[in-house]
Amino acid sequence: MRIVASLNAMQRLALRWKRAGTRVALVPTMGYLHEGHASLIRRARREAGPRGKVVVSLYVNPTQFAPTEDLSRYPRDFLRDRALCRRMGADALFFPSDAEMYPGRDQGRYSTYVVEEALTRPMEGASRPTHFRGVTTVVAKLFNLILPDISIFGAKDWQQAAVLRRMAADLNFHGRIVVSPTIRERDGLAMSSRNAYLTPAQRKQAICLWNAIREARRIIRSRGRSVPCSSLVRTLSRGIELNPEAKIDYLAFFDPETLVPATRVGVGTHFALAVRVGTTRLIDNARI
Ligand code: PAJ
Repeated sequence: MRIVASLNAMQRLALRWKRAGTRVALVPTMGYLHEGHASLIRRARREAGPRGKVVVSLYVNPTQFAPTEDLSRYPRDFLRDRALCRRMGADALFFPSDAEMYPGRDQGRYSTYVVEEALTRPMEGASRPTHFRGVTTVVAKLFNLILPDISIFGAKDWQQAAVLRRMAADLNFHGRIVVSPTIRERDGLAMSSRNAYLTPAQRKQAICLWNAIREARRIIRSRGRSVPCSSLVRTLSRGIELNPEAKIDYLAFFDPETLVPATRVGVGTHFALAVRVGTTRLIDNARI
């Protein structure tokens, strides 16, 4: 597996592959890799086929963090990440620097961003107003640098995947976008690099997100018909708030493709939630 640190080297490699007709699968990540990321790399390996190339990008993208967020303490472990990428059969690990990705940004000399204006409005976009602008910008840059035929994203970040799919369609990026299922811990907590922030007591309470998903499914299935969104939100919120360190950011029911809010919840409605446990903000989502 090659480690590619410079943008120039990445672009040259991508062009060489393109000219040779080699299929390229990309897995964008911010590192501190876990079994969720590993599942995306395995999927990329399958999609690329034996003659294709799998690129994992590892870049903690500063533009998707607000000044008050956890950029400086975001967990990092390059050696472990590199070993995992090798084990999962990646061909290249793209590991760029801030200086090359956003040259002159601190001096106001970086000024081009990609903005999706509809799907970014609710949920994560409402709570983190500058977040998706950073995500769409960095992913557009990765697409330009790596020219992937296929890119793999996790269902864990459902809204992110929907936004990126829209961006790729609207801006005519050539590759296909695949969304791969959420990988969970044994008790149901969705794997996340940010789970490393949780104290043992908070780790126990963090299961409240998965419990809310299960409770929503149980209620909808036992009623056998749709339920008003507002009453379901009230019921689920009470369960979450039983945990002393849990603070709800949002609970949202919506159409899985358009992200349009639902007024009634039935089988097939999508559910997403964000809950702060202590200082750690956790998100999860699932089909009801
Ligand atoms: P990061 O949080 O590192 O996640 C990288 C990819 O792994 C995303 O597509 C995410 O949805 C997926 N992922 C995370 N946890 C998962 C889980 N438990 N099961 C399945 N997939 C999971 O998302 C980002 O980085 C960044 O925003 C990025 C797209 C790289 C742009 O900077």
